Amino acid sequence: MAHGEKSQSRSIDMNTPSVARMYDCLLGGSENFQPDRDACVKLLEIAPTSQQLARANRAFLRRVVRILAEGFGVAQFLDHGSGLPTRDNVHEVAQRVDPNAKVAYIDNDPMVVAHARTTMRDNSNVMVVDRDVRDTAEILEATADFFDWTQPIAALFVSVLDCLRDTGDDRDPAALVKRVATSLPAGSYVVACQLVSDDAVVREKVTALMAEVTNNSWGRVRQSHEVRRYFEGMEVEPPGLVDVVDWRPDTPPPPLNLRPKDCVEWGGVARVS
Ligand SMILES: C[S@@+](CC[C@H](N)C(=O)[O-])C[C@H]1O[C@@H](n2cnc3c(N)ncnc32)[C@H](O)[C@@H]1O
Repeated sequence: MAHGEKSQSRSIDMNTPSVARMYDCLLGGSENFQPDRDACVKLLEIAPTSQQLARANRAFLRRVVRILAEGFGVAQFLDHGSGLPTRDNVHEVAQRVDPNAKVAYIDNDPMVVAHARTTMRDNSNVMVVDRDVRDTAEILEATADFFDWTQPIAALFVSVLDCLRDTGDDRDPAALVKRVATSLPAGSYVVACQLVSDDAVVREKVTALMAEVTNNSWGRVRQSHEVRRYFEGMEVEPPGLVDVVDWRPDTPPPPLNLRPKDCVEWGGVARVS
């Protein structure tokens, strides 16, 4: 690890499910505990397509990073809510295109931070920042010497804004995206997607369950028009804001009748001018 900062030294709570470990469990990973697995069983009872959505989201993350690196010339990534290291992490995808690509991972889950720091300690183009994603000033300070601020940076908010509550102030998800976007060099990009549903009952049930199992460490399933607000004032790249499986797919996306109907990961990419 080239740069880092002092850990905020919270201990790992193995008894309360964490979003990072539940997501790892849905992806078929092994970095999770029995309470995480039990919480996933409860989630799958009310949202049976959660595993399919998690896989589609992770595939979108890999695809968007590759396309930004290959097609848009981006070699710097600020990954908000990076999650537990898994196969094909952001730095691996980006560095396959450009071995000098730099990635700053930001997460506040102590297990994510510990694993990321161990896994990536030999990669001098990776840093791990142990912070709440909403602490923009501290994150920019921590990454000030790491990134080249004259070159584009892609700020990633992939499946993390649904973990944040509406606060009506500068901690609000839309305010966070705007604040980060306006801090980036011209020609940078913002990538954001989150769980949305058109069904008020599904929104309410999934939100309530996630709040219950994570001890109120989750935000809200939203509606697609709320995701659109994240991109206000930015130029959204084609194909626009979509179900992430439809965002520049490498292979034909599943037909509509085989897609999850309850929830969808919805979002896209915008250029910051
Ligand atoms: C569902 S995972 C998504 C991981 C990765 N972005 C992906 O899409 O594959 C959400 C991640 O965001 C992190 N997270 C949630 N709220 C956060 C916050 N307020 N500050 C920092 N990280 C947060 C969680 O710890 C978890 O690792």
